[in-house]
Amino acid sequence: MRVQVAIVGGGPAGHLLGQLLHKVGIDAVILERQTGDYVLGRIRAGILEQVCIDLMDEAGVGERMHKEGLIHGGFDMLFKGERHRIDMNKLTGGKNVMVYGQTELTRDLMDARKAASLTTIYEAGNVTVHDFDTAKPRVRYEKDGQTHEIECDFIAGCDGFHGVCRASAPRNAIREYEKIYPFGWLGVLSETPPVHEELIYANSPRGFALSSQRSHTRSRYYLQVPLTDKVEDWSDEAFWQELRLRLDPEARAKLVTGPSIEKSIAPLRSFVTEPMRFGRMFLAGDAAHIVPPTGAKGLNLAATDVKYLCSALIEFYRDKSEAGIDHYSQRCLRRIWRAERFSWWFTGLMHRFPENGEIGQKFQEAELDYLIHSEAGARSVAENYVGLPLNFGE
Ligand code: APR
Ligand code: PHB
Repeated sequence: MRVQVAIVGGGPAGHLLGQLLHKVGIDAVILERQTGDYVLGRIRAGILEQVCIDLMDEAGVGERMHKEGLIHGGFDMLFKGERHRIDMNKLTGGKNVMVYGQTELTRDLMDARKAASLTTIYEAGNVTVHDFDTAKPRVRYEKDGQTHEIECDFIAGCDGFHGVCRASAPRNAIREYEKIYPFGWLGVLSETPPVHEELIYANSPRGFALSSQRSHTRSRYYLQVPLTDKVEDWSDEAFWQELRLRLDPEARAKLVTGPSIEKSIAPLRSFVTEPMRFGRMFLAGDAAHIVPPTGAKGLNLAATDVKYLCSALIEFYRDKSEAGIDHYSQRCLRRIWRAERFSWWFTGLMHRFPENGEIGQKFQEAELDYLIHSEAGARSVAENYVGLPLNFGE
């Protein structure tokens, strides 16, 4: 098989890239290790910045998102038992975010791909990438006991944190930055109405809690837990009880509980790879960077990488210019580091770090107090949360 772009990984990044390329007539194949159902079974954050919404529209798959997505103009920060609203809309001159699950977004992209009869090879085993330091890269994979080879112009490594593309980059050409946090997030999805119409980020003496949602009838909640905790340690009842204790009295009284549909523990990590281009192989999304989920930036960063990659490829094919390709890494990384900084900072602000001692606690409280009482402080939180403009600093 020969294609212009071989996309490794069929998560949101790979699927969005595939759809955007299709729209401009660049042919691509997606190789995904898992089945489609497995990919859709992974529950991840669901907050879309305007850039991500615009890209879904550009890809021609925004219809259901606009119908079912919920627009949020603010969120609450809870500390010392009281909630304070960050009015993002007002503070940013009219910007909002949209609540729309990553699963739904991926499903829309998969459906569009199917409707356009584009090739996705699911259950592609043992994918390997070759010759990306030449003009004729190749990708090999195994399927049904046979080895197949794809010839392409470019390889897009959209294969997530554990993917093969980053691992195949020459070790002497790559630099990785990493921070692991000393706790995880225990998440529960339940078919119950959310406790509040907007999100509540809670800094409680018992640890961080987040009240989020997927719709008016489906809630997503998280608790900060020690890394040593196992999902089996947490019955639904124990989860609800602990969540109650971390919320304010009003939310506590409104909390509707029910059986969990999904329950999992995720570690928190900040991670960045530099560069994101190796000859004719590009990394995009979780393959290149991870943020702790506190700022809900993971999917949005993946989407902007894809946007930059798509325009670089258009420049290459249409304008015969390599400028976009040459700048890909630098353009992405500038945005990535800003979001990494915000996600790290917001994580530090909202979680409990016993190792920082009582003084650390006091600093945190003072910072929260400052942020919610200073318009400048609150605006800084808001403008980062809704996503800095694409041309920020240019
Ligand atoms: N061969 C083929 N596919 C692979 C391989 C491989 N060797 N390794 C991983 N994959 C697939 C995974 O099965 C997964 O479906 O690549 C896909 C990567 O998808 P994601 O992990 O969802 O990453 P990405 O598309 O970059 O999406 C980023 O996901 O983790 C969240 O917060 C993050 O929301 C952000 C989004
Ligand atoms: C979620 O709804 O899963 C979610 C929302 C906001 C976050 C993280 C996760 O910051």
